[in-house]
Amino acid sequence: MQRRTMLTGLASLAAMPAQAAGGAVLVTGATGAIGKFVVEMLLARGEKARGLTRNPDKARAAQPKAEWVAGDLRDAASLKKAMVGVDRIIFTAGRKFRDEDPANTLEAVDYGGVVSLAAAAKEVGAKQFVLISSAGVEQKLPPWISPMLLEPIKWKAKSEGALKESGVPYTLIRPFGMDDRPGAQMGIVFLPSDPIMAQLLISRTDLAAVCVECLYQPKTLNTAFQLFNAATRTADDWKKALGNLG
Ligand SMILES: NC(=O)c1ccc[n+]([C@@H]2O[C@H](COP(=O)([O-])OP(=O)(O)OC[C@H]3O[C@@H](n4cnc5c(N)ncnc54)[C@H](OP(=O)(O)O)[C@@H]3O)[C@@H](O)[C@H]2O)c1
Repeated sequence: MQRRTMLTGLASLAAMPAQAAGGAVLVTGATGAIGKFVVEMLLARGEKARGLTRNPDKARAAQPKAEWVAGDLRDAASLKKAMVGVDRIIFTAGRKFRDEDPANTLEAVDYGGVVSLAAAAKEVGAKQFVLISSAGVEQKLPPWISPMLLEPIKWKAKSEGALKESGVPYTLIRPFGMDDRPGAQMGIVFLPSDPIMAQLLISRTDLAAVCVECLYQPKTLNTAFQLFNAATRTADDWKKALGNLG
């Protein structure tokens, strides 16, 4: 893939015209810090947003407009059920940084969950699987990377491999780090593949907007890219840059 930097302008999260494509979009991690924005943005575009969660009652109380299904990424049968009527997936789940359940490991959730869900997606002929992965998956990492970061990157790399092998069309999004700044304040820079390692942040809201936009940008199919926020000159150009990836 050609390595080039695409600078874009202010991210606009303004509601887009409805473009519902038929099937539902399954969102894993839909109750999480990124996934909740993904669900809101899908609904704003007229999509059937289906959130996968271990606690649907709690999720429904927080976001009654979405469809909620009970499921656990460690339970392949629950994922098969959740996939009925779904044609696209946005995977934002992950073991929490300080998860109270010792069995909810990176291997089981971030990797095993992708393996099982990709298999279920293949069975129903899903059109796209958008995965939040991580920067660094293709790199010989520098010594300043802490072991706390190395472990997630290792499992993200394996999950990317499993998704590619599944044959389901994929989009691999590789952030460096995230924060809770409001979205649409800065531009978004996309770097095809995994060329650098740096401490560059993207706001979770902007990351959610990119995840959703990928469903409408065919050139993001079977691509992988890093992304981060940066002050840029032109306004609202990042969607065009995303659409030129590949
Ligand atoms: N923090 C960073 O700098 C960084 C960098 C690169 C990538 N990422 C990635 O960003 C993603 C999510 O971040 P976030 O902050 O939005 O997550 P979060 O707020 O910690 O939420 C975690 C989500 O994962 C779900 N989950 C966890 N275990 C599950 C299981 N066994 N079965 C089903 N769902 C499960 C939870 O759903 P329920 O509790 O409702 O079941 C929850 O919605 C992760 O993939 C993470 O690896 C983060």
